[in-house]
Amino acid sequence: MFSNLRIAFIGGGNMAAALGAGLAGKLCPAEQIHIVDINEDIRARWQAQGSTAAASADESLRACNVWLYAVKPQVMAEVVQATRPWMAPDTLVISIAAGIPLARFEQWLAGAQAPRLVRCMPNTPALVGMGAAGLYAADSVPQAQRELAAAILAAVGTVTWVEQEEQLDAVTALSGSGPAYVFLLIEALIAGGERLGLKPEDAQALAIQTVRGAAQLAATSSETPAVLRQRVTSPGGTTAAALQVFEQRGLPAIVAEAMAAAARRAEELSQGA
Ligand SMILES: NC(=O)c1ccc[n+]([C@@H]2O[C@H](COP(=O)([O-])OP(=O)(O)OC[C@H]3O[C@@H](n4cnc5c(N)ncnc54)[C@H](OP(=O)(O)O)[C@@H]3O)[C@@H](O)[C@H]2O)c1
Repeated sequence: MFSNLRIAFIGGGNMAAALGAGLAGKLCPAEQIHIVDINEDIRARWQAQGSTAAASADESLRACNVWLYAVKPQVMAEVVQATRPWMAPDTLVISIAAGIPLARFEQWLAGAQAPRLVRCMPNTPALVGMGAAGLYAADSVPQAQRELAAAILAAVGTVTWVEQEEQLDAVTALSGSGPAYVFLLIEALIAGGERLGLKPEDAQALAIQTVRGAAQLAATSSETPAVLRQRVTSPGGTTAAALQVFEQRGLPAIVAEAMAAAARRAEELSQGA
């Protein structure tokens, strides 16, 4: 628990709710979480858990030493500018918005005293406490606040720091968009199972548990994923027959090409395209 942590979520929707659920009681009590959200239902949900909430930025923000912006990118400029009057020189500002570079926040906060900015790329498994977030901090952010930002994101999964902000485009292409790649694989496994004669519900149960089990094995084993793959691949066996098709069809190259497309799109979006 951080006794002096008071965190404001500016935008209290899905991602904020996941973070709040992970934080509350672990890093700080729910009473030390403040929500700024235009949506009355969202505010009521947070208030029911003991947090305070307001429809717009106001004086309450002054008491919060961490501000985490979690509104959609389209409304971010307006929202950030509305909060600016209450910002202190040592406010830790965290953005989880996809595709908005820190330079944009610096423009919107011009006139506020030297905000300490951290940009984060989370992913949807954060909603079940299994997220993978990439973090980048501006040089001006002191070590203690970097650790605090990491602790906040670690409440819903793992945290990986990158040294250059542009690397968040690669994080977006890997873990940000990655859950969709895995869902696609699961869909393909289910369809393949059905084509081979399994009932749809059985194919789905087997596919999901296989992905979950393989990920858990990869996460807990001291071996690399490549070694684990080789271990389940006997020469001339069933797995070898399948992997040969993946290789022939160029699966690794397809994945690399898809990720390059995602990274390019992330870069375009961060440039306002
Ligand atoms: N969801 C993900 O998996 C994911 C992954 C990576 C990054 N992110 C980033 O996380 C951020 C939040 O995403 P989300 O999925 O949590 O969105 P969300 O559920 O729509 O939450 C945003 C909340 O902000 C409220 N809001 C809109 N305009 C506002 C304003 N002017 N002032 C205060 N509150 C306002 C919305 O209310 P209304 O609903 O009434 O508009 C909503 O309750 C986005 O920037 C997104 O890029 C999300």
